[in-house]
Amino acid sequence: MEYAVEIENLSWMYKDNQEKEIWSLKNINLKLKKGEFIGIMGQNGAGKTTLCRCFNSLIPNRFNGRMKGKVIVAGSLDTFEKKIHECARKVGMVFQDPDSQFIRGTVEEEIVFGAENMGLSIDEIKNRLEWTLKEVNLSPEFLKKPPTDLSGGQKQRVAIAASLISKPDILVLDEPTSQVDPMGKLEVFEVIEKLRQSQNMAVVLAEHRADEIMKFADRVILIDDGCILLDEPPRQFFQKVDLLLAKGVYPPQVAQLGYLLHLDREIQLPKDEIPVTIEEGIACLTKILGKKLKEGESECNTAN
Ligand SMILES: Nc1ncnc2c1ncn2[C@@H]1O[C@H](COP(=O)(O)OP(=O)(O)OP(=O)(O)O)[C@@H](O)[C@H]1O
Ligand SMILES: [Mg+2]
Repeated sequence: MEYAVEIENLSWMYKDNQEKEIWSLKNINLKLKKGEFIGIMGQNGAGKTTLCRCFNSLIPNRFNGRMKGKVIVAGSLDTFEKKIHECARKVGMVFQDPDSQFIRGTVEEEIVFGAENMGLSIDEIKNRLEWTLKEVNLSPEFLKKPPTDLSGGQKQRVAIAASLISKPDILVLDEPTSQVDPMGKLEVFEVIEKLRQSQNMAVVLAEHRADEIMKFADRVILIDDGCILLDEPPRQFFQKVDLLLAKGVYPPQVAQLGYLLHLDREIQLPKDEIPVTIEEGIACLTKILGKKLKEGESECNTAN
């Protein structure tokens, strides 16, 4: 099977950390199928951004340090051997800070830059521009504006469009809404949801918000101190409430409530029944309350 990304025994140490021998990634093994959506969670400094930088060869091409193992993109591109622009066609990146990713004068120039670099015809670039604007719900009236004039949510949508235009196999988003206001967050997640449904593209989303990961991801990875500790479907992942909390990751609040019901001496909710969505939480509470009511009823009957 051809994977969108294959990471084998990857370790990375930034040059600054070489004196103390601190590895930021330690023996990472990860395979990502085409069309698969992976969430990456972990506390500050766990290694999420460092891992994201490995997908499109920013590491080792733009950062100094020591690398072990390998990252193969789209079946054959070895990021260690290939130049960054070759990897950029296959892997789109959206960073935390919207302003850090713009280098052109207008939104249009910013979006079409990747397509121009691929040497596509003007007609093809036009078609792709139209398509990307639709994908990210951005009106053509923004095209002539400087990206700096846009709101945080709009900027991130431009950044997504700029990545999409080269029709990458993989889109990597590193906490794309952490510096965006609540309305902007909503706009960006709507676009991610649309991409999830319409494209057969692998998506990697590093994100602190458990509810969003729960909604989108096929698999979730817990990264801690540079190691992968968990790699599971979202349900099993978020049911491990105690481990996640110990590693500084907050599961959905409903799962935290479920965990208290698991610990409760009387209720003892089995661990694999801990709810992870609101709907499951309602079903779980209804079941527990129903049981309690029945117990109450039979106690009354016995007393009578
Ligand atoms: N450019 C760099 N030079 C040296 N060390 C770095 C560099 N970038 C990250 N690190 C170190 O690598 C480790 C992992 O950091 P990374 O930024 O990947 O974590 P993160 O999970 O993305 O954290 P956050 O949630 O704060 O974004 C940390 O110890 C960090 O200090
Ligand atoms: Mg980060």
